[in-house]
Amino acid sequence: MRHLLSLEKLPKADMERILADAVRLKKERGHHPKLPLAGQSWALIFNKSSTRTRVSFEVGIRELGGQVMFLSANEIQIGRGEPIKDTARVLGRMIHGAVIRTYAQNDVEEFARYSGVPTVNALTDDEHPCQVLSDIFTFQEKQGSIQGRVVTFIGDGACNMPVSWIWAASKLGFELRIAAPKSFQPPPALLRRAAGKVSCVEDLKAAAGGADLLYTDVWVSMGKEAEAAERLKALSGYRIDQALVNLAKPDALVMHCLPAYRGKEIDDETFEANARTIFDQAENRLHVQKSILNWLVS
Ligand code: CP
Ligand code: NVA
Repeated sequence: MRHLLSLEKLPKADMERILADAVRLKKERGHHPKLPLAGQSWALIFNKSSTRTRVSFEVGIRELGGQVMFLSANEIQIGRGEPIKDTARVLGRMIHGAVIRTYAQNDVEEFARYSGVPTVNALTDDEHPCQVLSDIFTFQEKQGSIQGRVVTFIGDGACNMPVSWIWAASKLGFELRIAAPKSFQPPPALLRRAAGKVSCVEDLKAAAGGADLLYTDVWVSMGKEAEAAERLKALSGYRIDQALVNLAKPDALVMHCLPAYRGKEIDDETFEANARTIFDQAENRLHVQKSILNWLVS
């Protein structure tokens, strides 16, 4: 039984297969010769807001022949305290797969363990594997292999996005530079475990120098709203603007996983100048999600 719970646990060969199959699935959209989810019912169980992840999985499941139900965690008994492991054992007898967005990584892992159906991490506090796979797909579609290239992440270096980037870098062989204030850098123990070419610095200009990709994410992730004031203060300055882009390679890409907060992690002008890439990146969530689903059931 396959699950996509984190990039930490996803073997390199599977990562490469998902990325390669997404190329085919993107080309085949609208005329898939095989429908790997035919006759299946999948559940999306979300405990946090979502636009891209929800819609790309809902559309992707339908386009691969499956049926999908969206379950807001607050509207099922999880919201009233029913344990994940009980919910998982009930749903596992009815559905063929689950896509879960929540806070604790352990909840997704527990669901996978108890449900007995393929389970996808659609974002936890620890990782956002589906997003980073789509981002790498988008990079490779535009610039060729990511191996040996330089990716610079600017902003909250300890949240789910940079953590998934760390695991991708260590497996796919590219350099990752994280530019963040000391208190927003990933824990050293995690960096030691990943053992890739990953560096963390406070100097964002140094980190952007010669990069192939500049990447950012919100300063206040979902669930961190109580820390908003403190985060805006600490992270102010960790923003992608044209001056920073000028330090990267001349053909460097600028990406954002979205939603974007202009004037915070990226300025409006730089966002709009790179909108083509950013919205291709958003569209590619659909193609990569389909590839993940196909890999899970094959
Ligand atoms: N990037 C991303 O996961 O977007 P949503 O929160 O809208 O799903
Ligand atoms: N780090 C962000 C990612 C949103 C897609 C969050 O967790 O809110």
